[in-house]
Amino acid sequence: MRRYTLTTFGCQMNVYDSGRLEGLLAERGWVKAQKADEADFIFFNACSIREKAAQRVISRLKEFKSLKKARPNLIVGVGGCLAEQEGANFLKKVPFLSLVAGPRRLTEIPALLDRLDPKGPAIILAGDGAEPRPPAAPASQAAPLSSFVTVMEGCDNFCAYCVVPYLRGREKSREPGEILAEVEGLLARGCREIVLLGQNVNSYAPKGSPAAGKASPFVDLLKRLAAYPELWRLRFTTSHPKDFPPELIELFGSLKTLAPSLHLPLQSGSDSVLKAMGRRYDRAQYLGLVKKLKKAAPLLALSTDVIVGFPGETEEDLADTLSALAEARFDSIYSFKYSDRPQTRALGLPNKIPEPEKARRLDLVQDLQRKITLEINQALVGQELEVLVTGPGRNLGQMSGRSGTNKIVNFIGPSSLYGQLARATIVEAYAASLLGRLATPAGELWAAAGDAAGARS
Ligand code: SAH
Ligand code: SF4
Ligand code: F3S
Repeated sequence: MRRYTLTTFGCQMNVYDSGRLEGLLAERGWVKAQKADEADFIFFNACSIREKAAQRVISRLKEFKSLKKARPNLIVGVGGCLAEQEGANFLKKVPFLSLVAGPRRLTEIPALLDRLDPKGPAIILAGDGAEPRPPAAPASQAAPLSSFVTVMEGCDNFCAYCVVPYLRGREKSREPGEILAEVEGLLARGCREIVLLGQNVNSYAPKGSPAAGKASPFVDLLKRLAAYPELWRLRFTTSHPKDFPPELIELFGSLKTLAPSLHLPLQSGSDSVLKAMGRRYDRAQYLGLVKKLKKAAPLLALSTDVIVGFPGETEEDLADTLSALAEARFDSIYSFKYSDRPQTRALGLPNKIPEPEKARRLDLVQDLQRKITLEINQALVGQELEVLVTGPGRNLGQMSGRSGTNKIVNFIGPSSLYGQLARATIVEAYAASLLGRLATPAGELWAAAGDAAGARS
């Protein structure tokens, strides 16, 4: 039996790609090893979005040096965006690698492993493959309760700071038929929540989609998916604020299956920084969009991404970001210190902000947001939320799940609730989770779950 370990870094795209790779490896008889020293194949699916993340992967790969020396037949490989960026150069940093495969080449790995010589020269795969990517392998085991499904890959936006368009290529949308088939397969295997993935899902444009000005093909896709009665929750990520069609805003108010959560990256609240970033919206447009969304769906939970310390960012620009956070009142944010990335336009910009100053700005952003998140969560105390139960909670006897707004809710309850929609009354709120009390007696939950599915059909 051949054994492997796979470690994933980075965004949901990499998580989804790793899942596909695991399915294909299983088809060829590979099983997961408990520990690296029991594995015949060690693989890192790595990210390159910020320099620190990239460095961490390289130092962790180096730790396998003695293992490879002791077992020359061991195959150590690296994939994902960092592999695409480094290509053959990776071998200068980690000489004992046998395989370097960019994100568009991952599905070639399982077949390649059958003929790869672990003692021979490394194989480097980058760019687009010669063959179209095969559809995800129909794995035989149960699907995760919540599964990712990619609808489009790549990015055409070239934001000044971002390396993704260079590593994942131009936007390519999957055909709706292929997406529906994948979703049907997941639902048949027990999945109840689908998160559609793409760097910019709003620009989803499969071949033969209607000309600009007609209904958005993405809205169309969401409506088709929401028609499956087995699908309880539908989410998507990421949306670029510059192209958010009015029909999509409206859908948050009208399509029940579409869960009330949305990730809408702001990046900065300053018009001059947004311009320098090449984001193609300004502060007023962004905040106007937030207002429209909250009007269409008052319960909508918003999250965002913020970068501090972009080259040339002034104290005033930072104040604009802080005031935008106060105005938009996001449920949660991901905030980052600007990091120079190869090939990007921002790399060549003057007035770089020193590291300690970036750290100070990040603290200000995070301190403000912690307060806002806590206020929003505390306002939920006493309310009853519908929770999709995803597994055991942190404490003994607890189960845990996600609200429609994507907040973690822990509550005392039986493990038989796994995979069900439970109702919990919130009794305590923290910044990162909520504590609830089961509102529905356990015995009635099967019926409740059935009703919920029925109501959506
Ligand atoms: N496609 C998505 C997200 C891509 S990367 C989008 O358009 O929003 C995820 C987040 O990483 C970005 O939203 C941005 O906030 C952050 N990021 C990207 N490049 C960065 C860099 N060079 N330095 C710091 N943060 C960065
Ligand atoms: Fe990067 Fe901008 Fe594309 Fe997002 S939209 S992946 S931030 S270039
Ligand atoms: Fe990282 Fe690539 Fe995602 S750079 S954030 S894994 S698209």
